[in-house]
Amino acid sequence: MSVLIAGNWKMYKGPAEAIEFCRAFAAPAGADVVVCPPYASLREAMSSGLTVYAQNVHWAEEGAFTGEVSAGMLLELGVAGSIVGHSERRQHFGETDETTARRAERALEAGLGVIACVGETEAERERDETEDVLRRQVSVLSPHDRLVVAYEPVWAIGTGKTATPQMAQEAHALIKSLLAAPVLYGGSVKPENAEELLSQPDVDGALVGGASLDVDSFTAICETAARLSRS
Ligand code: PGA
Repeated sequence: MSVLIAGNWKMYKGPAEAIEFCRAFAAPAGADVVVCPPYASLREAMSSGLTVYAQNVHWAEEGAFTGEVSAGMLLELGVAGSIVGHSERRQHFGETDETTARRAERALEAGLGVIACVGETEAERERDETEDVLRRQVSVLSPHDRLVVAYEPVWAIGTGKTATPQMAQEAHALIKSLLAAPVLYGGSVKPENAEELLSQPDVDGALVGGASLDVDSFTAICETAARLSRS
């Protein structure tokens, strides 16, 4: 199976920078590569033939939902899928398990691919609640052949702290026992730690934030994925 690497650009790279990145980046053969630019740069990112996902998608087809984008609109643009339930959406914008589930369900129904994010906070891990949190977050998702889960421990996102390969493996095995879906690891994935994380038996790829913004580091992670896909 191909290892999937998704680059989450968050609120970085407007249209001009997106074009610059895509001109300089060539996805190595063997890995599945996706980039997730901000809405304003979706079209530019697609112009180079890369597979492009949005960072969020609403459950309604249209309506009075200021600031939101529908699955139909993304499909019309040629976008292949969307992230839903990212911890930054949960933390800063009131996203819940329920809204994440509604977004995922509608996007899948409409024909988009979905990367649904789950993961415990530092306080939850310290209280030994990781398993309960993951069970709760995964319980609202239904299996689908275009659904991928991303396990992103919140304390590892953008912090430089990474889950150990064993921690990641344990969480991924739990998620897979609850839902039949590929599971990506996310949280400070870099060229230096990609191989040990991606080599775990239940780690099917990575959702990469900071290191996906730089062509060289994103390429290095994708090359590791391509090599592991072949082995
Ligand atoms: P990071 O972000 O790689 O910068 O930790 C990952 C994510 O938020 O998806």
